[in-house]
Amino acid sequence: MAETTHTATRTLRTAELALLGGDRTVPKDSDGGTWPVVTADDERAVLRVLRDGPLNAASPGEPEIGRLEAAWAEATGTRHCVAVASGTVALHLALRGCGIGPGDEVVVPALTMNATAHAVHAAGGTAVFGDIEPGTYNLDPRSAAAATGPRTAALLPVHLHGLPADMPALRRLAERLDVPVVEDAAQAHGARLEGRRAGALGTAGCFSLHPHKNLPTCGEGGLITTDDDELHERLVSLRNFGERAPVGARTYISHHAAFNARMAPVAAAFTHSQLARFDDYARRREPGIRAFLDRLAQLPGLGVPRIPAGRTHAWHILRLMPQPEALGLGPEHRTGLRAALHRALRAEGVPVSQYQVAPLPAHPAFRPADMTEADALDWVAERFPVTTAVVDGSLCLQRRHLDPAAGPLLAGYADAFEKVWRHLDLIRQMARSRPAPGWRDALRKG
Ligand SMILES: Cc1ncc(COP(=O)(O)O)c(C=O)c1O
Repeated sequence: MAETTHTATRTLRTAELALLGGDRTVPKDSDGGTWPVVTADDERAVLRVLRDGPLNAASPGEPEIGRLEAAWAEATGTRHCVAVASGTVALHLALRGCGIGPGDEVVVPALTMNATAHAVHAAGGTAVFGDIEPGTYNLDPRSAAAATGPRTAALLPVHLHGLPADMPALRRLAERLDVPVVEDAAQAHGARLEGRRAGALGTAGCFSLHPHKNLPTCGEGGLITTDDDELHERLVSLRNFGERAPVGARTYISHHAAFNARMAPVAAAFTHSQLARFDDYARRREPGIRAFLDRLAQLPGLGVPRIPAGRTHAWHILRLMPQPEALGLGPEHRTGLRAALHRALRAEGVPVSQYQVAPLPAHPAFRPADMTEADALDWVAERFPVTTAVVDGSLCLQRRHLDPAAGPLLAGYADAFEKVWRHLDLIRQMARSRPAPGWRDALRKG
């Protein structure tokens, strides 16, 4: 009898939401979910540079930078690759290399990391914004076209979260305007569109090697890919004080205004070592993520990422979009629903988070200068309805799923979602009774 009561209590505790005192679905310290995965090979690669040098990319004969560049050019199917100090620097140099400067406007999606727009401004240009598409979260070509004007000098689509943007449509727009397309592929290493890899889909492709990225480094780093020989030459020069690429020794004569944007050889050696496992990791990661998203796609009122035909996803970030209307709530409950799910899922051990808390055009750095704050925020709400709904309503999973051994962990996350979905009445009640802060509040706080 005591045993039966004990079993019944345990079943009750497992069924009860962790938020209300039930058991967590995903135990603390679950295996898998480490990123980046650092192996003895990576350590040896770094130690080799530390012991033998040279430690600086400008030293004559330094081999690590060129080795990484050649490998990434081959991996992306491009003629050239230039290693630089970070993904932001990659974007900045690619824009400068394409001739972007003061007076120029560059079209950027309203949902992206702030680095995308900062790179434009650092080049002396101005970021103008297009809204995103629902489901892919990438720049909407029609909205991008609406943002263009006589000053448009480049398009800067982002392959957000690892999914290539609609490059065929964006390239058509760029051809009509006779401007270059620079890819922000910071999150999309290895993703493909119609067989071609991200980084080979525009005039230049820019990658981040931040340790949280799919191809990480130990510190900071970035890569620029291009098929254009002249652009390549300019990028090599812009990376190093505007000096010409050394054939023999450096001349220390600057031909362009530029700065030191070089990557460290230690960082290049680490990334080159990681690159040896990159395809294998991507292959092993895929089934766990697919199985996770397939299970989530069965839950009513939960949107999973949409992958249009002809594209592959690098799964850098998994964005999930609860749909208030499908769950019997109004659009006014969007932030409340997100917050209720956030609380319930985190209590179960699922590390959901928000990725971007406000549309980029609403940030003080990028708002139209001729509007009051109130007018600017109303303008953003009206002009970027998809971005504002996505920022307010969605939840993301970052990083842990990048571990190729994260399949069982993701299965646990799916169990947690299913459990929370068995308590939708409570979630609805929480969403209705507790209005949660949205993007306007985030801006006020920031
Ligand atoms: C979309 C996007 N663009 C640009 C960057 C900037 O890269 P980094 O952090 O290497 O400067 C990042 C990364 O954080 C990013 O996610």
